[in-house]
Amino acid sequence: MIEVDDVCFAYPGGALALDHVSVRTAADQAFAVLGESGSGKTTLLRCIGGFLRPQSGTIRIDGDDIATLGEPALRARLGIVFQRLHLFPHLDVVQNMVLAPRLVQGADADSARRQALDMLERLGIAELATSYPSQISGGQAQRVAIARGLMLAPRYMLLDEPTAALDANTTDAFAAWLRELRDQTCFIIVTHDTLFAAQVADQGVYLSGGLIADSGDIQTMIEHVRRGGLEEAPAG
Ligand SMILES: Nc1ncnc2c1ncn2[C@@H]1O[C@H](COP(=O)(O)OP(=O)(O)O)[C@@H](O)[C@H]1O
Ligand SMILES: [Mg+2]
Repeated sequence: MIEVDDVCFAYPGGALALDHVSVRTAADQAFAVLGESGSGKTTLLRCIGGFLRPQSGTIRIDGDDIATLGEPALRARLGIVFQRLHLFPHLDVVQNMVLAPRLVQGADADSARRQALDMLERLGIAELATSYPSQISGGQAQRVAIARGLMLAPRYMLLDEPTAALDANTTDAFAAWLRELRDQTCFIIVTHDTLFAAQVADQGVYLSGGLIADSGDIQTMIEHVRRGGLEEAPAG
């Protein structure tokens, strides 16, 4: 479980992007972080990932404070796919995937390559193995970025706006694909798309202006949005 407890974060010279935020992810379930553009979703994800240090509050991953956990231990437990996928354009899909196991875990080239091919097979995208990022679609690139993240077998994987570049049909297929992966890793999905969130997660929180405006069951939160209790989230 990831526990965010009373976290405040402000960018230099800025207002509070996270204003006393507390979040407890559902144990072993996909979890959604919802909210309109500018509500603090990416900031929360960067804090959980250890890329930003909150000015106050604590973040624990399976009981351990991430401030004291240390970089290698944190990376082993938690993978992140940023909104910009950061696939290396000069490397093919398998070459992108073997980087972390080779550099972080010291895996040898052959076994890392075999592991990458197994992973692509398991995720149903084996045909992409020798493609370069410029040769694949947005939806395929999103899957490759997740496949690459899964190479280190993190217990948690954070996804920032995974459907931002996808059309509606691709989003539905991607949601179905993510659902099937839920037993491999515990996804924390940051998205402005409430309907997508409802396809992949059961529980979540709704951020608004850096505050938790709603939390709990996603279907119930969608009802709240419909009844006008919360703003319908614009893209971003
Ligand atoms: N690097 C930054 N420097 C200063 N302000 C930022 C930076 N990144 C985001 N913000 C501000 O912090 C707030 C939350 O942004 P963000 O977490 O990116 O929201 P979301 O991901 O929900 O769109 C916004 O007001 C945004 O303008
Ligand atoms: Mg964002």
